[in-house]
Amino acid sequence: MLSFLNYPNTMYLAVIEALKFNAFPNPKVGAVLVDKDNQIKTMGHHRGKGTNHAEIEIIKNTRIDADDTLFVTLEPCFHTDTSPSCADELLKTNLKNIVVGDVDTDTRTNGKSISKLKNAGLNVSIINNVNNFINPNYNNKNLNNGSITYIGKIAKSNNNKITNDDITDEKYITNNSSLKLTHLLRATVDAILIGKNTLINDNPLLNVRHESLPKIEIEKYVLWGSDDRKIYDVIDRHFDKTFITTFDSTKPNIMNINDLTFQNLEEYLISQKISSLLVEGGNFVHKFFIESSSYDYFYKFTSDDDIKNGLLLDPIINDYLTDKLSLNKEISLKDNSLHIYN
Ligand SMILES: NC(=O)c1ccc[n+]([C@@H]2O[C@H](COP(=O)([O-])OP(=O)(O)OC[C@H]3O[C@@H](n4cnc5c(N)ncnc54)[C@H](OP(=O)(O)O)[C@@H]3O)[C@@H](O)[C@H]2O)c1
Repeated sequence: MLSFLNYPNTMYLAVIEALKFNAFPNPKVGAVLVDKDNQIKTMGHHRGKGTNHAEIEIIKNTRIDADDTLFVTLEPCFHTDTSPSCADELLKTNLKNIVVGDVDTDTRTNGKSISKLKNAGLNVSIINNVNNFINPNYNNKNLNNGSITYIGKIAKSNNNKITNDDITDEKYITNNSSLKLTHLLRATVDAILIGKNTLINDNPLLNVRHESLPKIEIEKYVLWGSDDRKIYDVIDRHFDKTFITTFDSTKPNIMNINDLTFQNLEEYLISQKISSLLVEGGNFVHKFFIESSSYDYFYKFTSDDDIKNGLLLDPIINDYLTDKLSLNKEISLKDNSLHIYN
């Protein structure tokens, strides 16, 4: 995952380009064309069914020269649908070099464009896991299994604390690079979910704060169990969030699920057309998802600093990551590290 971070000016920009538009039900796709000196000539993204694919935007925007390189987050489409075959359209240009984020698992393409471009003499490289990051539920959708993609995220100190109760002005456990990646991650999902104390203690905005992605709206859910009167102090300040509770109320932003099991929660999220959920939980909320072995991906950010006073990360979570998922990538983010499991 996140191999595009190795291409900071190109595939990374194509990722940002892709995330600018919710192309639902199509995947978000971005493309960047650079010249022989790696200078950007033009960028393009897909805005949804019936509109240009990112590659067609590139072709329409500029003249492609033989020493240019096209970075595109997903394999160009092989088939003609409401748009022409991007592979065929690219073959009508002077393009010789293309870097693809992922093979398209759509059976109508599924590697066929890559073969066609290679057979026509183009240099084709595949990075892998770029589209999987941008459209986390894309492969599930192509497999028609209808399930939600669950992504867990936690920030912890070097000594495994997940809250900071030391007397300090610092609100965050991890550094700006980790926060920036978290906001990029948020931009990829349909919804975020947290627990009630996280809302009360940390008051997170749960929005996407990224200079190139100002317009992204995500659904926000808060798990709130018992009929705790404190909810009425909080709820009116948080009409942008849906409170999933085990008790009923006339408040419009309370969704009552009496028996709050994972299955019932999932059924509700599917009814809300949520296909990918980022769980920014602490111990309680992560254990709830872990008990149902739900995570498809888990992002663990660790700072180099110790925290004296704070909640310890429950060892069950680390055990789950080691036993049930595999470490896919370890990334250094200055004095933080990121471990990605799937
Ligand atoms: N470092 C990090 O990355 C990070 C991330 C998130 C949170 N945190 C910290 O960790 C602390 C704990 O967070 P947390 O995520 O463990 O949970 P939490 O925010 O403390 O929320 C737990 C509460 O959610 C309700 N709940 C959750 N699932 C439920 C279910 N299936 N059925 C019924 N009720 C359910 C319960 O409410 P009732 O008690 O009303 O039943 C439960 O007490 C937070 O205060 C926060 O400061 C740290």
